[in-house]
Amino acid sequence: SIRTVPLAPPDVIFNLTAKYKADTFAQKVNLGVGAYRDDAGKPWVLPVVKKVEQALVNDPSRDHEYLPILGLPTFREASIRLILGADSPAIKENRVTAAQTISGTGANHLGALFLSRFYSKEVPIYLSNPTWANHKPIFNNVGLETRNYAYFNPKDNGLDIDGSIVLLHACAHNPTGVDPTQDQWKAIADVIESKKLFPFFDCAYQGFASGDLDRDAWAVRYFVERGFELLICQSYAKNFGLYGQRAGCLTFVLKNSDAAARVSSQLAKLQRSEISNPPAHGARIVDRVLNNPELYAEWVENLREMSSRIKNMRDALRDCLIKSNTPGNWDHITNQIGMFSFTGLKAPQVAVLKEKFHIYLTDNGRISMAGLSTSNVEYVANSINHVVNN
Ligand code: LMR
Repeated sequence: SIRTVPLAPPDVIFNLTAKYKADTFAQKVNLGVGAYRDDAGKPWVLPVVKKVEQALVNDPSRDHEYLPILGLPTFREASIRLILGADSPAIKENRVTAAQTISGTGANHLGALFLSRFYSKEVPIYLSNPTWANHKPIFNNVGLETRNYAYFNPKDNGLDIDGSIVLLHACAHNPTGVDPTQDQWKAIADVIESKKLFPFFDCAYQGFASGDLDRDAWAVRYFVERGFELLICQSYAKNFGLYGQRAGCLTFVLKNSDAAARVSSQLAKLQRSEISNPPAHGARIVDRVLNNPELYAEWVENLREMSSRIKNMRDALRDCLIKSNTPGNWDHITNQIGMFSFTGLKAPQVAVLKEKFHIYLTDNGRISMAGLSTSNVEYVANSINHVVNN
């Protein structure tokens, strides 16, 4: 009964933010949530986003009417072109369809819901071990069983390729920061093909990972080229810095246009009962940028600024760890890609970092690289040095 509902534990990632905020220690550092910060440790509104927002506010034709159930049509089309490439044959063949979603989480949810209805409720979904903390609950919520496939090899902090696969991180794997090479992607595609699995791509970091939008979409485009039917979840939280606006997209690539039309009709039906229609503001910002060549070029510049600051922080952290003779090999800090580094630190070491040094990170040793800055990287490295030595 509702009176005996059990107490749920707080969310592992957002609880770190709450604890960090409550901490009064001057040198505290938040390496928990994957959200970009500038070198002053502040959230960064992308300059191109600021500009478009001003234009939107001053646009007399803007109103607050409902968007269509599947979202802003030009936003959906631009999202499809962004991930598949504008010249993708699948687009020309009219066999791609998309729904605007509540960011990446909403895309994962709608994709999961659709598959549980129309693919199979009996088939388990395989998640990389480890994966984003929210994946399992999202799939379990719609009644899908989740299982793990081997992914990360703690021996060399690299990739363990032997295992079964379905949910794939398109780039910048969360939490490990370890991506397959192109050859490994080919081997993964072979396995998926021979086992007739359905590839479910989660793409939360396109352009943010390498600073190159095409490079970060390589795996998805390769799978499309090989003729797979698949789906892709896109989030604009990280690459547009639109975390709280919840702008995202769920795209299906199908065998033919007839299937695309049928999938689209069912997505609209599901979406109507779930959220009626998606929120407009963030999607309008993304829409204007993706559909205007000058704004697009500015966005690419903004993406490069974020990804290069993160790369600099990887170099700085590794340098500091080596300079202070921290035992172990720290090459993985610079080999990994995207928002996170999987440091290899163990839960008891993480506990000391939190309690003694006021550095907040998840128990699996993941750190958000964006939480590092030129003013705190040495403090963090020295603290890691301390826990590794003790
Ligand atoms: C993260 O993994 O820290 C981010 O993707 C934020 C979230 O929603 O968990």
